[in-house]
Amino acid sequence: MPKAIEVSNLRKHFGAKPALHNVSLSVRPGEMVALLGASGSGKSTLLRALAGLHVADAGSESRVEVLGATVQAGGRLAPHVRRTRAKVAMIFQQFNLVDRLPVMTNVLAGALYRMPAWRWALGRFPADELARAHAALTRVGIEACAWQRASTLSGGQQQRAAISRAVVQGAQVILADEPIASLDPTSSRRVMSLLAELNRELNATVLVSLHQVDYAFAFCPRTVALRHGEIVYDGPTRALSKQRLRELYDSQADELIEAGERAADFDAAPELQAA
Ligand SMILES: Nc1ncnc2c1ncn2[C@@H]1O[C@H](COP(=O)(O)OP(=O)(O)OP(=O)(O)O)[C@@H](O)[C@H]1O
Ligand SMILES: [Mg+2]
Repeated sequence: MPKAIEVSNLRKHFGAKPALHNVSLSVRPGEMVALLGASGSGKSTLLRALAGLHVADAGSESRVEVLGATVQAGGRLAPHVRRTRAKVAMIFQQFNLVDRLPVMTNVLAGALYRMPAWRWALGRFPADELARAHAALTRVGIEACAWQRASTLSGGQQQRAAISRAVVQGAQVILADEPIASLDPTSSRRVMSLLAELNRELNATVLVSLHQVDYAFAFCPRTVALRHGEIVYDGPTRALSKQRLRELYDSQADELIEAGERAADFDAAPELQAA
């Protein structure tokens, strides 16, 4: 079976500034992986490179494959990258919904790649797509908000709408870039639980960047930790003791450990706590 994500020797500079150094990473289908690192460590750059939104340094040996298809190689996008992107959903800290449009229309955008664009533009959606979007909104518990403008939803509800869009898309890989950074703890747990549910029930591969270790402990069996654009840890999350994090991050450790003590309070992922 092809890997869900296969990255080798990924190098990326912005001007003279290095953002990723020879990052190599392999993720199996159905894994749920936390991407941890202090601010500026390269989390967003890596996630965007996986989706082909950043290309690696020209002339490098960099290679990114997702679901067995090349996304980019040697700093060039693969010609069929759109086909691969249809199977990949990105979820952002700032939700990335079209504010003035109803939640339902935003969620149906997940189906755009299999629907003529005029249908979306005119708001004439096929009945089966509407039913699918409604089911996705029900799954995340915001079906009552379906016809509200996206801008009228709370942050947590907007992020749940973004997750419904990924469900409607039928995404096999979900790349979530700090999806809970703007949310309160209750909404954060809800959003992380939903990502874990898509991972378990739909077998979606999830790579989620986080600032704080406690959510990685509660929801992600595996953690990849970046520091200054390099992978400094890749292994079981539960093996990341505070001591180990201090070794990896020195002065940056507090930023990541800060809320770690609360990890034991989580009841959302009992299977992880039992491990
Ligand atoms: N578009 C850009 N132009 C110039 N430099 C950039 C750009 N995007 C990222 N960088 C730089 O690349 C490095 C990695 O940034 P990146 O955004 O990937 O970090 P991050 O781990 O996502 O940080 P944060 O936790 O703050 O989101 C940083 O030094 C950043 O300043
Ligand atoms: Mg970032």
